[in-house]
Amino acid sequence: MANVAVLGYGTVGSGVVEVLERNKAEIRKNAGEEISVKYILDLRDFPGDPFEDRVIHDFNRILEDDEIQVVCEVMGGVGAAYQFTKQCLMAGKSVCTSNKELVARHGTELLALAREKCCNYMFEASVGGGIPIIRNIHNSYTAEQIRAVTGILNGTTNYILSKMETEHADYTEALKQAQELGYAERSPEADVEGHDACRKAAILSALVTGREVDTERIYTEGISGVKPADFEFAAGNGMTIKLLAVCRILEDGKLSAMVAPFMLSGNHPLASVGDVFNGVLVSSNMLGDTMFYGRGAGKLPTASAVVADVVDCVQNRGRSVMAGWGCGKAEMADIEECERLFYVRTAANAFGTAAKAFGLNAEHIARQECLRDGEYGFITPVMKEKDFRGKCLELGDVILSRIRVM
Ligand code: HSE
Repeated sequence: MANVAVLGYGTVGSGVVEVLERNKAEIRKNAGEEISVKYILDLRDFPGDPFEDRVIHDFNRILEDDEIQVVCEVMGGVGAAYQFTKQCLMAGKSVCTSNKELVARHGTELLALAREKCCNYMFEASVGGGIPIIRNIHNSYTAEQIRAVTGILNGTTNYILSKMETEHADYTEALKQAQELGYAERSPEADVEGHDACRKAAILSALVTGREVDTERIYTEGISGVKPADFEFAAGNGMTIKLLAVCRILEDGKLSAMVAPFMLSGNHPLASVGDVFNGVLVSSNMLGDTMFYGRGAGKLPTASAVVADVVDCVQNRGRSVMAGWGCGKAEMADIEECERLFYVRTAANAFGTAAKAFGLNAEHIARQECLRDGEYGFITPVMKEKDFRGKCLELGDVILSRIRVM
C-alpha cells in the first residue's frame, strides 16, 4: 500500500481526497497497489469531516514519516508551498501539484532537485486543470517538432467571455458566478488580468523549448478591457473573442509567447471552446494540429489530474520519469516585431481619421457598418506590433478598443 499526504484541504485538496476515495478500485488497479491518505496538512480543523482524523498541523510529521513517499501540494502560493515542496523532494518524496505559480516560478530548481533525488515533481494539474496536456506533450510528441501551442488556459475568463457573448452578461456578475463555482483564483486579478494564463503559458513554453521561461518575459494582457460592443462586432463578422496563450517557435528557433484577448474566426478550432472549458491546440511539423479539450478548472477535474500524477509516482518509485525542462533560459523573440491583423473600435466622428491612419482605403471605409451607440469597428491590414502601438499612441482617446486578430 502507498501512503500519501495532502498539503492543503481546500477546494483541490478535498477533491484529491474525494477522487482517491471514490475511484479507489480503479486507482488500485492502475497503480498496482492501494493508495491511502495518511495525512492532511492544514491550519484548520475539520470537525465532522470523514477524514478529520487524518488532519494534522505539523508538517514535520509528514517529512519524518518514511511511509510517505508521495505528497500532494495543493496549498497554492509560493511561500510555505515552496519550502514544503523543497523539503519533501530533498527527502526523496515525490511531489504532485496543481500550483502553477510555484511551477512557473521555481519549476527549474524543483525539477532538478527531483532528478537528483531520484523522485518526481509532477504538475499535470497546473495547466488545463483536468486535461492531460503535460504528460501528452512529454510522451506523445517524441517524433515531432512542436511549432506552436495555442491555448485557452483560464477557465474563469473563458466563462466570463462566454457569458458576455451568449447571454450579453455583465462582466462583474459573470466573474462573481465563476468565483462562486470555485473556478477563480483567490485574487480575481490573477484570472482577469491574464497572470494565471501567463504562468500556464510559461510552463507549456518551457516544456516545448526544454528551457526555463520567465513569466515576466511573456507579454500579458487581460480581458477587463473587452466590451459588449466588441462582441457585437465579432458576431457581425463571424468571429468570437477568447483569451489566448500563444506560444510559437519561430524560424530562428526563438520563442514568441504572449497572453492576450484575440478575435478569432468562428471556424478556428478554439472558437467553440466555451464556458469553463479549456482547449489546447498543439501544432507540430509531421502531425499537424491536435487539440485537447476539457475542464480547465474546478475541484474534481483538477484533483483527478493530481491523482493521476500520484499513480504515476507510485508506479515509478525510485525513478525520475517526470516531464520537465533543464537549466538555461529559452531565447525569446521580440514581440514588437511580430506581424498580425488588429481589430479597432472608434467613436463615429473619429472613424475616418483612424481608419486612414491604419491604411484602410476609401472603398473599405465606405463599406463599414456602424455599431450601436454610433461607434465603428474595423480590422487593420497586417502590421507589426510596434507600428500598431505607435498609431494607437498617435490617435489617443479616439481608439475605444483594440484586440489582436488570430
Ligand atoms: N483560476 C483558474 C482558472 C483555476 O480559472 O482556470 C485553474 O487553474
